Order: sequence, then C-alpha cells, then structure tokens
Amino acid sequence: MEFPFFHLDFMGNRMLIAVIAILHVLINHTLAVGFIPLMTLMEYFGYRKRKTDPDFSQKWDKLTYKMMFVAFVITTSLGAMTGVGIWLSASLINPYSIGSLIRVFYGAWFTEWIIFVLEVVFIMYYFLQWKKSNESPGAKIRHIRFGAFLSVFSWLTMAIIVAILGFMMDTGSWDSDATFLSGVLNPLYLPQLYFRTPLAMAMAGTFALFLLIFFQKKDNEVHAKAKQYISLWVLGWTPVAAAGAFAYYLQIPDAMFGNLPTAVGTMAFASWYDTMLKIIIGAVAISLLIALLSVLVPKRIPRLTYFLPIIAMFIFLGYFERIREFIRKPYVIGEYMYANTLRAEDYPLFKKEGLLKYATYSTVREITPENEVEAGKNVFMLACSRCHTVSGINSIADKFQKMVPKGEPVTAKVVADYIPNMHRVWYYMPEFPGNEEELHALSKWVVEVSKNPEYLEGAQSGGLFLSSEKNNVDQNLAEEK
Ligand code: HEC
Repeated sequence: MEFPFFHLDFMGNRMLIAVIAILHVLINHTLAVGFIPLMTLMEYFGYRKRKTDPDFSQKWDKLTYKMMFVAFVITTSLGAMTGVGIWLSASLINPYSIGSLIRVFYGAWFTEWIIFVLEVVFIMYYFLQWKKSNESPGAKIRHIRFGAFLSVFSWLTMAIIVAILGFMMDTGSWDSDATFLSGVLNPLYLPQLYFRTPLAMAMAGTFALFLLIFFQKKDNEVHAKAKQYISLWVLGWTPVAAAGAFAYYLQIPDAMFGNLPTAVGTMAFASWYDTMLKIIIGAVAISLLIALLSVLVPKRIPRLTYFLPIIAMFIFLGYFERIREFIRKPYVIGEYMYANTLRAEDYPLFKKEGLLKYATYSTVREITPENEVEAGKNVFMLACSRCHTVSGINSIADKFQKMVPKGEPVTAKVVADYIPNMHRVWYYMPEFPGNEEELHALSKWVVEVSKNPEYLEGAQSGGLFLSSEKNNVDQNLAEEK
C-alpha cells in the first residue's frame, strides 16, 4: 500500500490491462513468432524456384514481400506500443506484483527488454533489406539465413515471458528453494510454451491466408500455389497446437486446486472442460477443413471463407488467456499475492488492525462517525478497486443493487453480511482484508454510492493524499515475530 492508486472508473482497471494485453498477444504470436518463420520458408521456396521458373520465383517473392510488409507495419507500431503498454498499465495498476516479479526474474526483466528492442530492430532490418537482397543469389541466401535467425529470436521473447506468466499461475518449487531456475521451470512453463509455439505458427498461417484475400487480384497460379503452401503449414501445425492445448490443460487442475478448495475447483474445471472441448474441436475442425480444401482445390474456395480460420484461432487463444487469468485468481501471483495487491502473509495483521493504518495514500487513518463514508471509499480503493468500479464496468453499486428486491434501496446490513463471505461465493474474489470497523465503513459508503453513483477518481486525476503517521507493515511483522 505504498503506491498511489491509479484507477479508471469507467472501463475498470482489469479491462485496461486485458485490452492491451490481448491485442499484444495476438500481434506477437501471429505476426512475430509465427509469421517470420513462415515468411522465411516462403522466401526460401521462391529462391529455390529461381532457376526452373524465374517468373514464378519473382512473383512469389513479391507476394511474400507484400505479406511481410503488413507484419512489419503492425509489429513495429501496434505490436511495440502494446508491448510497452502492458508494462505501463500493469505497473500502474498493480505495482506490487510487478515489484515482486522483478525480484524473482531480475535478470529476465532487463534481458527481455533488450531482446524486445533487438527484435524490433531485426524485423526492420529483415524487411528493409528484402528488396536489396534480390540483387544477387548470395545476398538472397544471406537474407534467408537472417530470417531463420530472426525466427528463433522472436520465439525467445515469448519463451522468456511465458516463464513469468506460468510463475504467476503456479509458483511451484520456488516457494521452498527460491532460485531463479525454479521460478522459470514452474509447473506451467513448459506445457504453456508447448501450447503457444504451435498455436502461434498455426495462427500465422491463418493470417497469411486471410491476407491473400486482399492481395488476390485474379486467381492466378502464384496465388493458388500460395494458398496450398500456407494451408499445408496450417495443416501441419494445427494438430500440434491441439495436442499442446491438452498438455497445458492437464497441468491446470494441479495449479487450480492449489489455489481453490477442491469442490470449487472441480466445479470450475468441469464447466471449463466442456467449453474448452467445444472450442478446441471447433477451431481445429474449421482450420483443418479449410486448409485441406485449399490444398486440394485452391481455386474453388470463396475468398471470404478465409475469415473463418483466423476468427476460430483468435477465439481459441482468447479462451486460453481467459482461463489463465482465472486460474490464478484470487491471486495475482499464485498463493503469494492477492489480485487486490495485498500479500497473503499480511492478511492476519490487516484483519486485526485494519488496512487504513498501513496505507500510505489514504485520506483517513482513524475511523470516526464523521469520516466513516470517506473511510469506506478508501477501503474500497484498497480492497476492491483493482477489479471493481463505482459507476463503470463491474460496478460495485450495481452488484449490490442486484442483491436486494427490485426498487428497494441497498442497506448497510446487506453489504456487511455479504462481504465477509464474498470469497466463498465467488472464488476469484480474495477474502475481505480489513477489520470490523472498516467493513462497516465500506458498507456505509456502498450505500451512499448506490444512492448517488459517483465517478471515483484515481490518483492520476484526483491527486495524492499523503498521511504522515503511517505504520510500517514490515516493521510490525518483524516486531510480532
Ligand atoms: C480479484 C478481483 C476482485 C476483487 C479484488 C473484488 N472483486 Fe468482487 N467480483 C469480482 C468479479 C470478477 C465479480 C463477478 C463479475 C460478474 O461475473 O458479474 C465480482 C462480483 C462481486 C459481487 C457480486 C456477487 C454476486 O453474487 O453477484 C459483489 C457484491 C462484489 N464482487 C463485491 C466486492 C467487494 C465489496 C470487494 C472488495 C472488498 C470485491 N468485490 C473485490 C472480482 C473481484
């Protein structure tokens, strides 16, 4: 509770991270990790034809270049911006979890940054050198080699970040031996990498097929061949991605039952299991079918058909990202830190003495009858605002309004009865961290905002309130020990 609270009351803080992160993952997986090897292979295929069929070779190279142009523009603009955007939004919204992750993955953190910058530079180089490389076979082969190198390099950025993502879901043996290596080799790392790699490849193929819709003037031989070529790529990778999805999924229950009571875990797992099966089977079937038809009868497929596999693949990935987010709830870092930014080990202290006493940026330190509502607002900011808003998405006022009969006002009793049990009702909510007084203050404030919804301002627009007589958590913990 040492940082000011950034808060977006209309879209919610979770949504901000989610929008940026999902966009980034789609671009990164599809257009960097998967697309570069596909383009390099296509470039190589064109190069091999230069002697037997120079005209085809030239046209093929041009088509590949045009596709790479799209990837170049998107990865170096939107891709790079959203990449930085994840760091920015995550460190504003939950600086504590980012702080903890930096401690565990210290080396990886700046290595990732260097690799990320280099990746952008290398993508630029690969694309901008393309035309020049056509001047001689020697230059072309060097360019293709560079493409192969870049393919490995792009994959590395993903390989590093997936270690951190896996760690957030399940910290594995790090809890006991606390080494960098045990953090990296967390139980979900390899299954997740094994799932994401072929999925990125398959997604790149579906995106390339999609691009052909726009580059296809008339159905000539080059385009038909490109459809076949890319479809074979999709056919090859999709089953591997499906197998990877299962490998990843098999690891999920262990991670989940660590976080949740078995009964809740079993329920959540069963309901995901059904949806997951449908989504995997649907996405895989659509992609395989269209790819197969494109190999067999490339000229007979209506252009717009190619919208389908890419949408199916996006849903496939989107669903898995969502599961990933839900598995680790109520934690942001498995069993260590809750999504409300509080450490699990600090809970007993806060429940006894209250949160406000320990919050650097709170306008209230001691609750009195006069400042109760204001205190409640601070408690909301500390305990609920990472996931709820007052007036926007996942609005707290609406949530409680739904708990009383239609037309009736929310009462402090309804709120105060619900909150101590909220973590039992919905497993993704952490237990209420404050003490009895704070519970009542929060309830009073909820009643207030359900009558007059306000737009709750974060520190970025509402300003900072620094209190001088704050207690220090670590000092207090040390004294207790
Ligand atoms: C980790 C994120 C998170 C935190 C922290 C959190 N909630 Fe929630 N809460 C949710 C989500 C997600 C939902 C369900 C949204 C939906 O599916 O409609 C929810 C639902 C609710 C509901 C409606 C439950 C129902 O049965 O319909 C209430 C009330 C609620 N939260 C109150 C709170 C209060 C009060 C706090 C703070 C003390 C809090 N939440 C903290 C994520 C969170």
